Amino acid sequence: MNETLNLLAKRYTCRDYSERIPETKDLEAIAQAALQAPSAYNGQPWHIVLIHQKDLIEQMNSESLEIIKEVPAYQDFYKRIQERGGAVFYHAPSMVLVLKKTENTEDKVVSMDAGIVTGNVALAATSLGLSTTICASGGIVFQSEKAQEWEQKLKFPKGYTFGIAILIGYAKNDNGKPHELDQSKVTWIR
Ligand SMILES: Cc1cc2nc3c(=O)[nH]c(=O)nc-3n(C[C@H](O)[C@H](O)[C@H](O)COP(=O)(O)O)c2cc1C
Repeated sequence: MNETLNLLAKRYTCRDYSERIPETKDLEAIAQAALQAPSAYNGQPWHIVLIHQKDLIEQMNSESLEIIKEVPAYQDFYKRIQERGGAVFYHAPSMVLVLKKTENTEDKVVSMDAGIVTGNVALAATSLGLSTTICASGGIVFQSEKAQEWEQKLKFPKGYTFGIAILIGYAKNDNGKPHELDQSKVTWIR
């Protein structure tokens, strides 16, 4: 296997981060990798927010918990999070938000483009020895009555909405493993 294939095989979802803070230069490299993603018609319908402030992520964690506590459909999810000590974001020290452009765009295409950015972010971070969690739960605060407040706090440009979050940091116990590969999901025509 070559370096790229090894990297793809190595990425996994981390659910326990250490206190160690990623270096700014690594986050800068990750942002460049995000911007290198291809997009339909080279539309680049995204914006990247780098949150390099653990306190703010912990605040977002507390508010997300408060929100899901009140939603009947989220009660199983809330229970699962409580069982792991209330950590929606696993105490990750950094978070990347991939925002999607909403004006004059087709959501399906934009979501596809944002997904490729997300892959670039996760793989670039892995290549730098960091661990990641692609995290839809990062969007909870943007679906609440405090959405506007959070969008302002995180400097969302006008015309962009939350797409996905990627948590980034160093794994506490590096025993996480990627998922098992399901070979039945491959069909050959030859
Ligand atoms: C779009 C997307 C959203 C996800 N959201 C969450 C999340 O909110 N919380 C979480 O712990 N994991 C989340 N995950 C991680 C998946 O659970 C994980 O990728 C999957 O179980 C496969 O495991 P692996 O990444 O270790 O190979 C998300 C993954 C994707 C692709």
